[in-house]
Amino acid sequence: MELRSTRRNYLKRGLVGAAGLALPLGALSGPIARIVSAESVESPRVERFSVPLPIPPVLEPVRTDDTTDYYELTQQEGTAEILPGLETSVWGYNGIFPGPTIEAQRGRPVVIRQRNELPVPVSTHLHGGMTPPESDGYPTDLILPIDGGSLSTYHEHASGPAWSFHRGSKEYTYPNEQRGTTLWYHDHRMDFTGPQVYKGLAGFYIIRDEIEDDLSLPDDEKDVPLMITDRTFKEDGSLFYPSLDPSLTGQPGVLPTFSNGMRGDTILVNGAPWPSMEVSNTRYRFRLLNASNARIYDLALDPSPPDGRSFVQVGSDGGLLEASLAHETIRISPAERFDVIVDFSHYPVGTQVTMKNMRGDGRTADILRFEIVREERDESTIPATLAPPQEFPDPEAAVATRRFQFLAGILGGMSTINMQTFDPARIDARPRLDSTELWEFSADPTHPIHMHLVHYKVISRDGGPPGPYDAGWKDTVFVPSGTVRVVAKFAGYRGKYVFHCHNLEHEDRMMMANFEVV
Ligand code: C2O
Ligand code: CU
Repeated sequence: MELRSTRRNYLKRGLVGAAGLALPLGALSGPIARIVSAESVESPRVERFSVPLPIPPVLEPVRTDDTTDYYELTQQEGTAEILPGLETSVWGYNGIFPGPTIEAQRGRPVVIRQRNELPVPVSTHLHGGMTPPESDGYPTDLILPIDGGSLSTYHEHASGPAWSFHRGSKEYTYPNEQRGTTLWYHDHRMDFTGPQVYKGLAGFYIIRDEIEDDLSLPDDEKDVPLMITDRTFKEDGSLFYPSLDPSLTGQPGVLPTFSNGMRGDTILVNGAPWPSMEVSNTRYRFRLLNASNARIYDLALDPSPPDGRSFVQVGSDGGLLEASLAHETIRISPAERFDVIVDFSHYPVGTQVTMKNMRGDGRTADILRFEIVREERDESTIPATLAPPQEFPDPEAAVATRRFQFLAGILGGMSTINMQTFDPARIDARPRLDSTELWEFSADPTHPIHMHLVHYKVISRDGGPPGPYDAGWKDTVFVPSGTVRVVAKFAGYRGKYVFHCHNLEHEDRMMMANFEVV
């Protein structure tokens, strides 16, 4: 019960102790005392590149009609053999991690019934989706456990019109009126997104469209989604996460040493540790997604091809670029996607090419390995023009400029936007429907910043031009110390949406705010 009472203090944002901690550690009892001593957990060793790369299964609709595809997903506990020879319990969509991939077609709506058989509330967000507010997975629009207690069992402070709940299941409608691109769906429960995504609640959602279908980019088994995450495991194979309350029903948050993010020592791609993939000496398309809670990667190939064009980027968060863009390395912060072509014809058959993380050290310096095992004729091309010229919103047409400063570790250890912590009832910006605005994000130290509903265009960094990873439409932008300006048009739907830091531990420590399209 002590936990419940400190919870109340925690919510009186800013009223927490001057010691810089979000909670008085002296008040912690049993389970927390145990994790305090587990801060230095090291995962069991795994032989790298020994597990084949898994591809998440594509979900079949339960029903389709003239206009719409209907799906059902059950969020439930499952068991996975992630580390060879050990069992890991995960929370997954249909019990698997990553969840099944949803394949959608532009212009054809998808309806997903989400059933919650987990012991905690959930909310499911389609990241990058242009989604009506009631289907956006708002953090306090919860699906309660199918056979659990009331809202206050899980969120003691939940009250007022900013909170709503559904018992056991909820239907989400995705219009798919947006460009073809790689989206992902993941948990977004108030205060507990970090641990719930970490336990496995994340999957791909791919929208295809005619523009893309008409290109001859690598497809079928050469169009490969890669979900990169990092996790730490305990000796018995279970996941280690530094929750203050591992039941995820009381005190939210993590141990103070992890308040800048949980970074694991084991890199998983599509849920497998440092996997390996056999390829032919042809082009492959990789849909890179960083679904890690907090880790940023600098991806590179080793050896890199002679011309240095390791990754030819064809798409960003919001779909195809107008023209491809070559990178020797790609920096990818949490929630970003890069759609890239890797051309293995640069290498002789028999070569092993490792995707490295130049920001990592030791085990986290490796991601996965490609083994070029056969020759094959390549039918694919990378056309000079990928997509018609985009109608990016015009900065000149902006009717407002808003500035948001993302600061972590103040107000007693909280993460803030403009010195305020998240309050689901407070609206921080009211853009008009169909209006264009400039939003300026400044960050200290570094934050990946995500807006729901809109895709935006990065127009400057620290007053200079956008960076090499800012091309195309973005919904998440990495802001290292400094300032990034984006231009967005608030089209689609009226209603309340969040924007936030996608370092999930920052998000859970309240680095989130509301905008309402009016
Ligand atoms: Cu990927 Cu608000 O989230
Ligand atoms: Cu952050």
